[in-house]
Order: sequence, then structure tokens, then C-alpha cells
Amino acid sequence: MHNHRTSVTQFIIEEQRKLQGATGDFTSLLNDVTTACKVISNLVNHGELVGVLGAAGSENIQGEEQKKMDIITNDVFLQTNEWAGHLAAMASEEMDDIYHIPDGNPKGKYLLTFDPLDGSSNMDVNVSVGTIFSILRCKGDCQNPIAEHFLQAGTEQVCAGYALYGPSTMLVLTTGQGVNGFTLDMNIGEFVLTHPNMTIPEETREFAINASNMRHWEEPVKRYVDECLQGKEGPRGEDFNMRWVASMVAEVHRILTRGGVFMYPIDEKMKAKGTEGKLRLMYEANPMSFIVEQAGGASTTGRERIMEIQPKELHQRVPVVLGSKNEVERITSYHNE
Ligand code: AHG
Ligand code: MN
Ligand code: MN
Repeated sequence: MHNHRTSVTQFIIEEQRKLQGATGDFTSLLNDVTTACKVISNLVNHGELVGVLGAAGSENIQGEEQKKMDIITNDVFLQTNEWAGHLAAMASEEMDDIYHIPDGNPKGKYLLTFDPLDGSSNMDVNVSVGTIFSILRCKGDCQNPIAEHFLQAGTEQVCAGYALYGPSTMLVLTTGQGVNGFTLDMNIGEFVLTHPNMTIPEETREFAINASNMRHWEEPVKRYVDECLQGKEGPRGEDFNMRWVASMVAEVHRILTRGGVFMYPIDEKMKAKGTEGKLRLMYEANPMSFIVEQAGGASTTGRERIMEIQPKELHQRVPVVLGSKNEVERITSYHNE
């Protein structure tokens, strides 16, 4: 007999059946989101064969140089998700304002936020990139959505996920009932459940931080990394390993697989410039925190749980410390001392 494999669509439909009052709307939305990820995966895989490498010659609202692929993948997300009638509006790292559903298309009850291409500086050097997304409920007048509708704490997320375009393309999802991972089978064009119930080991001996910022770090971060670097001879009594991929998706996926801690903390240089962090709350920090917490890990700014932050604006940035529970708790305690 043929060995049955569970596709992401089947998985979501079966999850939804367990919920009272589910209309199928959410399943359908998630289907469109996964389609967008498949289209991006295809583009990423073809690279310069389809002429998508290099800079676009523009900047986003954060003042970051946009890659051609930042803009292309943003368009893919908009086009794939604007027509079906599940969304009231969308918001992305690459757009200054919220995106309104074009006239003539029906509007729905959900809001979608996304980082269409995470780690885009990796694109040109052929290293892993990803996509991050989050789904919120639109509360209030969803026929006339405004930016304020998006300003909900991370605890309000209905679903969060990422696609990782690495040696294989994977989709990792949570709807608040654990975390499941799917691998794209290119031959049938489906994400297949390959990593059910992903959990982060509590203990770890691996950390990820951009050490080129070391001279700007705050004392608690300096202390943590310094103790790791002292290895067997230091207060931790064990050797630590270090990684930095420069793609949060790849870092979180590694942590989901074998544990570890990822930090993009606030530092003195940011404070001097008046920024609160590098990573974006709505498109990166909240969705990843939801996934990490659902996998048994923890996520904080160092001072507060990220998912409890009341967002003040769409493009807000926050410090991020996430991963294996015990390490995150240790780093938090250093901040509290
Ligand atoms: P993006 O490509 O969407 O702008 O995100 C890049 C982010 C994050 O994924 C990564 O961890 C970090 O920025 C890398 O920053 P540095 O270049 O400062 O290391
Ligand atoms: Mn990003
Ligand atoms: Mn991005």
C-alpha cells in the first residue's frame, strides 16, 4: 500500500475541524500564504537564471538598501493574498504604509504581516534566506482598515510561520497548538509534514550574535557572551559554540532543531541613534517569538516578554533574545541584576 504523507493543507484542515465555529476561511488564507512561499522558493532557487540578484537601487522605510528580491517577493505576497477575500489589509517590512485590498476584491476578517525576504543580504552570496509571516484578527471596522488595526500584542496572533529556503525548502507553522515543520516536495509541489511537534531543547551550548557590535553591547550581554567564551575554564564550566547566519529564519530554525540562543540586543550605538533594536516587532520578533514559545523556548527583549509588548507603530523595532529556555532566563536575570 502507498505510504500516506500529510500535506500542510490536510494538516490545517484537520486542525481546524477541532475548533468550534471554524469556517474554512483561515485554511484558505493559509493556503494562499503557502502558495506565495512556493513561488518565492522557486525564484530563490533559480537565482540569477531569472535575473533576481543584486540591488534594487531603493531604500525601505528603515533606510535599508532594498535588494531586487525584497521588492519582487513583496509583490508575490501581495498578489497571492489580495484576491481571495480573507484579508482586510496587509503590512510588510518593505512598504511604508499598510496595503489596502484593491477595489473590486472582497475584504475579510484577517490581517497579514510579513517580512517577504529575511536575510536578503544573503541572496547574492547564495546562503539561506527565508520568509516570515503573522496572521492577526481584524477587530473593528475591517471594511476600512487603518494602521492602528495592526497594533496588537504578539499574544493576539492567530498564526505565525516562516519558510526557510535552504538546502531544502521548509515551512514551519504554529496556530497556538505546538509547532510543526513541513518540507517542500518539488515533484508534487506540496509541503509535506516531516517535523511534527518541534521542540527546543532547554539546555544548549550554542549562541548566535553579531559579534562585530561587541564594543557597543550593554553590560548584561557582554557578561553573557564573555562567560560563554571562557568555556570550560569559565563560570559556565563548558565550551560553547557560536554561529551567525545573518538570517533570523535560519537561526531560529537551527534553534528549533538543536537548541541555542539568538540575540540581536539593543546597544549603545542604537541608543545614541534613538532606535530600540534592529529587528522589527510586527514582521520578525512577534511571529518568531510565537513559534519559539510554542516550541517550549522563551523570547524576550532582555527586560520584557516580546509577545506582551503593546505596539506603538507599524515599523517598531525591538531588542530580541530568544531560544532555549534556561539560557534566555539566564540572560534575563543578568538584565535584572
Ligand atoms: P532583513 O534581510 O529582512 O532586513 O533581515 C535581516 C535581519 C535578520 O534576519 C538578521 O538576523 C539580521 O538582520 C542580520 O543583521 P546584521 O547584518 O547586522 O548581522
Ligand atoms: Mn528580516
Ligand atoms: Mn526582509
